[in-house]
Amino acid sequence: MATVVLAYSGGLDTSVAIRWIKEKYDLDVIALTIDVGNDRDLPAIAERANKIGAVKSLIVDARADFVKYFVWPALQAGAVYEGEYPLATALARPLIARLMVEVAKQEGAVAVAHGCTGKGNDQVRFDVSINTLAPDLKIIAPVREWSMTRDNEIAYAAEHNIPIPVTNASPYSTDQNLWGRSIECGVLEDPWAEPPAEVYAWTADPDTAAAKEPTYVEITFQHGVPIALNGDELDGVTIIETLNKVAGEYGIGRIDHIENRLVGIKSREIYEAPGAVVLLAAHKALESLTLSRDQTRFKEIIAGEYARLVYNGQWYSALHQDLAAYVQSTQRFVSGTVRMKLSHGRCALVGRKSAHSLYSLGLATYETGDQFDHNAALGFIKLWALPLSTQAQAQLLPSIGLEGNLLSSEGTKVQIAEKSEVQS
Ligand code: ARG
Repeated sequence: MATVVLAYSGGLDTSVAIRWIKEKYDLDVIALTIDVGNDRDLPAIAERANKIGAVKSLIVDARADFVKYFVWPALQAGAVYEGEYPLATALARPLIARLMVEVAKQEGAVAVAHGCTGKGNDQVRFDVSINTLAPDLKIIAPVREWSMTRDNEIAYAAEHNIPIPVTNASPYSTDQNLWGRSIECGVLEDPWAEPPAEVYAWTADPDTAAAKEPTYVEITFQHGVPIALNGDELDGVTIIETLNKVAGEYGIGRIDHIENRLVGIKSREIYEAPGAVVLLAAHKALESLTLSRDQTRFKEIIAGEYARLVYNGQWYSALHQDLAAYVQSTQRFVSGTVRMKLSHGRCALVGRKSAHSLYSLGLATYETGDQFDHNAALGFIKLWALPLSTQAQAQLLPSIGLEGNLLSSEGTKVQIAEKSEVQS
């Protein structure tokens, strides 16, 4: 019998899918559960898949690879979508797709399947990655294909003796991995509605956390990769897990974002990403000490491009390779330690040091020992102002008025600030 490899989360959708695929496509299902730090009972999930009718269940612990090949490069890039979202869900998709493809090849499967809906970004990320890596594999997306409501699914499960994982089903759609937790749907669909306390699982209420004594954490980076916390060398998974816990207890890392999806709609997303928020801030602080002004400015452009590419599912692309090579190059002196103070809802940067620091006390100080040549500033200012004053004399002076008048390109006056008459 031909087989399909299903990315199995253990939730309602993919549980129903095991049975539905068998019925609809007459394919045997191999359930593949991938651990990217989702905090689930994996053996129990694999067992459930077998009970429902999967011919085989596989578990892959991909946490270390996720951190090494996806999370750290994104951190080095400073990738944050639309200035808000550290991209946890988006970063895991290409890894999961790759593992689905690998397992499908090993098992001689003819197809792969995932539980995405037809409305989100995740279907795009999966399908684009799979098509790129293995164009011959058929992709089955049951939730996109069937027209069942949640209640229909529950009825289908009851009818086919499928053990339903959650009894009092949550109204939210969530996804989580080491880099963060994503929550959508339910009351969150109203952008005016304040998220109820129940949507948060990783972070304490920042107001409650105000009672906690602030704490300090020191993060050491080597070439832009975190390698130690408070002087203890730790592996990446442990560093992120520890920071998620410690910063989460202070209510750090809650994000409320109206996000532009690739499929053209705006959606309201809540994220919890305590570790990511702390690490991104710390990494940026170390870069501000070790990169030049021009490197910093240019890298911000790359960060935006990198984040968009990850969000839009273009991980397996030449553009990604190019941007990643640039980012790696920028990180060669981004080594050192950053000190952060964690208090309720806030991580404040309080110190940074690096053997490659570009900060020079002799140049910066206003105290004795000042090495900055104050007289040189005069010549510098003269040349810096030269093109401005030249242009002003030739073109602008007649029109630069205190009242904010500008000249249009034809030389006519354009009034942009009009005085209003005050009548008494
Ligand atoms: N909007 C985020 C993204 O596109 C998160 C998606 C979360 N997925 C979910 N099933 N809740 O990356």
